[in-house]
Amino acid sequence: MRFFVLSALASLAWASSDYSGPLRPQVRFSPPHGFMNDPNGLFLDPKGIYHLYYQYNPTGLVAGNQHWGHATSRDLYHWTNQRIAISPDNSDEAIFSGSAVVDSENTSGFFPDQDDGVVAIYTLDTPEAETQHIAYSRDGGYSFTKYASNPVIDSNSTDFRDPQVVWHPETQKWVMAVAYAKDLVIGFYTSPNLKDWTHASNFSQKGLPGDQFECPNMVKFSVDEIDEEKHVLFISINPGAPLGGSTTMYLVGHFNGTHFTAEDPFKLADFSKDNYAAQWYSNIPEDQDPISIAWASNWQYTEEVPTGQLEGYRGSNSLPRVNTLQKVDGTWTVTSAPYDGLSTVKGPLISRQSTRNGDIAVDFSKVDSNAISFDVEVSGIFGPQATGEVIFNFTSSTGEDFLDGGIHLDSGEFWINRAGTHGFTTADNKAFTPSFNTTIPSFANGRFSYSGVIDRSLLEIFLNGGEQSATTSFFPNSPLDVLTVSARSLGKGTTVKVNAWGLESGWNS
Ligand code: FRU
Repeated sequence: MRFFVLSALASLAWASSDYSGPLRPQVRFSPPHGFMNDPNGLFLDPKGIYHLYYQYNPTGLVAGNQHWGHATSRDLYHWTNQRIAISPDNSDEAIFSGSAVVDSENTSGFFPDQDDGVVAIYTLDTPEAETQHIAYSRDGGYSFTKYASNPVIDSNSTDFRDPQVVWHPETQKWVMAVAYAKDLVIGFYTSPNLKDWTHASNFSQKGLPGDQFECPNMVKFSVDEIDEEKHVLFISINPGAPLGGSTTMYLVGHFNGTHFTAEDPFKLADFSKDNYAAQWYSNIPEDQDPISIAWASNWQYTEEVPTGQLEGYRGSNSLPRVNTLQKVDGTWTVTSAPYDGLSTVKGPLISRQSTRNGDIAVDFSKVDSNAISFDVEVSGIFGPQATGEVIFNFTSSTGEDFLDGGIHLDSGEFWINRAGTHGFTTADNKAFTPSFNTTIPSFANGRFSYSGVIDRSLLEIFLNGGEQSATTSFFPNSPLDVLTVSARSLGKGTTVKVNAWGLESGWNS
């Protein structure tokens, strides 16, 4: 009985929500209440609406009681909360992560009279097993009916989850990537109709990091440089990430319809600690670059962060990102940038300044959203030994909190440090490690640039146009509302330019 009362309350949760709290991201999605983890079922519908489902506990502030929450958007920045899309049938079940596809050709037979039917493919988690299930939607993804002959794949395992399905035009089949989590193996299955699945191959490789694999996504990239297509297999690992807890890695290679072959060693998708379980949109036009959204947290501390006590929710997504595959310093690299240059939330330019040495201050206390985007361009880094540093420091005009980072030009080290945000620190959870860094191997043409989007409790940083990126959550006691970029001890001829834009809240309309 309790389960059904809670479920009924849960389905009302979408109706009211308050996105004004001082830690609530304004240009990124977070749930109306309760606990959110992985993005699920990302697909673009034929009307141009982006759907986002997500792992959702509507009745608690920690994981458990997993549903598929649902939100929609026309631009990936302004979101509308929808009713919960898929719920467990009883308190022993959890609806775990998965994907969604538009079955425009009615391969499944669920949609005799329409070309916009949607099929969700997800893991049903019970104490006895994890099995793969499907549910279909005849109303464009707003409500789902569970398939009567579920499960569609049962492999007698309690650690077999997170199916991602894509259409493979060359073989005219659906292809599923799914994690045998504890075996550190990604299985590939194929199907003509989303109901009947055949095991095609297993991918694993010695030397990959992680204690469990989760949320695989196989993504096709067109590579302009070589006029060819490549596949990238993204694998989320938790626990056992090199920096602790959860992270996403990827392998660039080739998929032939049944088997994935990696061509390069693995790379990490992010050099900070809060980028997990990324998913890629299905059904976007063939000529567009892939679009992804990740969960911006880490299982080591996500159930303790202070947004729960203070604002009644936990979990936010990364920015929507556009990804490309490019050769960087000789190896294939997935680059990322904010989708569409943040266009629909980008407000006025609030600063355009340059310096050779000294501080540039940008006061954004008057920007209502408390969110800005900024870019820092360093040019003229020449000479036998580059010197100096270009630091960013976000401070609070009303308190002691700060968040800083920047580049040491001599060593090429770029760092981010969240130790100065006092609402949640290593004293609360020792895994909330303060600092992250990476190395820039060389400054091509004497240039280096970084850009970022800060949004109350999240910072994403993109280096050299997104060749490397970082997602960092932080929890200040007082809002960060002043940016100072400091150029120190730069070599002769080195110049720093800083631009900053106020952002408009995606939650205002
Ligand atoms: C990843 C994950 C998935 C699982 C889901 C449960 O964060 O553990 O493997 O499907 O979350 O909420």
